[in-house]
Amino acid sequence: MNILILGSGGREHALAWAVAQNPKCDRLIVAPGNAGIALAHEVADIDILDGAAVVAFCAENAVDFVIVGPEAPLAAGVADATRAAGILTLGPSAAAARLEASKAFTKEICDACGAPTAAYARFTEAEAARAHVLAQGAPIVVKADGLAAGKGVIVAMTVEEALAAIDDMFAGGFGAAGAEVVIEEFMAGEEASFFVLTDGTDALPIGTAQDHKRVGEGDTGPNTGGMGAYSPAPVLTQAIQDQAMAEIVLPTIAEMARRGTPYQGVLYAGLMIRDGRARLVEYNARFGDPETQVLMMRLGAQALDLALACAEGRLAEAHVNWADDHALTVVMAARGYPGAYRRGTPIHGLKRLPEDSRHMCFHAGTAEKDGRIVANGGRVLNITARGATLAEARNRAYAMIDHIDWPEGFCRSDIGWRAL
Ligand code: AMP
Ligand code: GLY
Repeated sequence: MNILILGSGGREHALAWAVAQNPKCDRLIVAPGNAGIALAHEVADIDILDGAAVVAFCAENAVDFVIVGPEAPLAAGVADATRAAGILTLGPSAAAARLEASKAFTKEICDACGAPTAAYARFTEAEAARAHVLAQGAPIVVKADGLAAGKGVIVAMTVEEALAAIDDMFAGGFGAAGAEVVIEEFMAGEEASFFVLTDGTDALPIGTAQDHKRVGEGDTGPNTGGMGAYSPAPVLTQAIQDQAMAEIVLPTIAEMARRGTPYQGVLYAGLMIRDGRARLVEYNARFGDPETQVLMMRLGAQALDLALACAEGRLAEAHVNWADDHALTVVMAARGYPGAYRRGTPIHGLKRLPEDSRHMCFHAGTAEKDGRIVANGGRVLNITARGATLAEARNRAYAMIDHIDWPEGFCRSDIGWRAL
């Protein structure tokens, strides 16, 4: 079959790597892709936020199956457009993707189905929001309702910080995303990510992961899109996964179906675990980045079979063949990230890296210039490895990094420390 993957990051490189290994895949196209993806796969330059353009491209290229990577095309209704055109699609409708696009909507769904999550209140004007924070005290969490590229959440350790966040949001600091503000109880505990495929009725867990959001060693410094991840997440024991499925994921799926907006695709539940129980922090309507890099490393070619079972509504009969393995990915970023950084710096040594079922260098922000790979973003490479233990996976990943000659890049040296 002919398969189109939408997106251009390390997540999409990892999805392409797994999908292309499956004998069901005849032709794979990634749009728009990146320089690393283009080294191994066909890429196409289409506007992935334009449903009509994606449908037209699928018709011209006899695409049978579309996998949507990032949230923006989902929120823009691209999966609605491809499904309406009769093309098998992995990814929720715009109505279902509101589980990521609106934090207030997610809270409403949790209320309706009884899923455990932080207590909250919603505000559309600053004065009432400020009064709420003054009454509740700190720590407290202030969130812009809409999509804010991961920046719309302020975990305020003081009342002053929370008030400043409220003022910033209502002053338009987050654009339309901040027109409504959700203020939440601060949840203490350990965070982990739980990935589930659902066809709207049935659900199948496809892995757990933890990522490192802070830029500095020991999880210090400013927040980033993620500096590394590993799978499985030891904190998500089978008992906690069962509880999260029974109390959070399955009730959410049932509530979405009951409302006439069934959720089909990857449901990524961010969980806070404390005293052996998970509560929901947030949903994402897509695979995580860089978590997908470690999930794909572990699933390999079966990822396509699972994605197809999901899109075709056959998840009840699907199952994952788990190996007793671990995967870990280290993000190499441009110096300065998450602040200002330079683009265009050359990266050497990539050709020396092994590429097999235990080692992969997934590209995130790279470009090709005069036949060389150069950095073209903040997060640039995802050095990913698999092993029988997490320590083995980590050692393999860092051994790969030793081969990379990129003076303008950096990575954390302690990815996985919490679990090791
Ligand atoms: P979100 O975009 O909702 O995942 O929020 C980003 C990050 O903020 C999460 O990964 C958590 O680390 C943190 N966070 C969000 N909500 C809460 C909460 N209610 N309590 C504690 N931390 C939170
Ligand atoms: N790694 C976090 C995310 O994909 O949202």
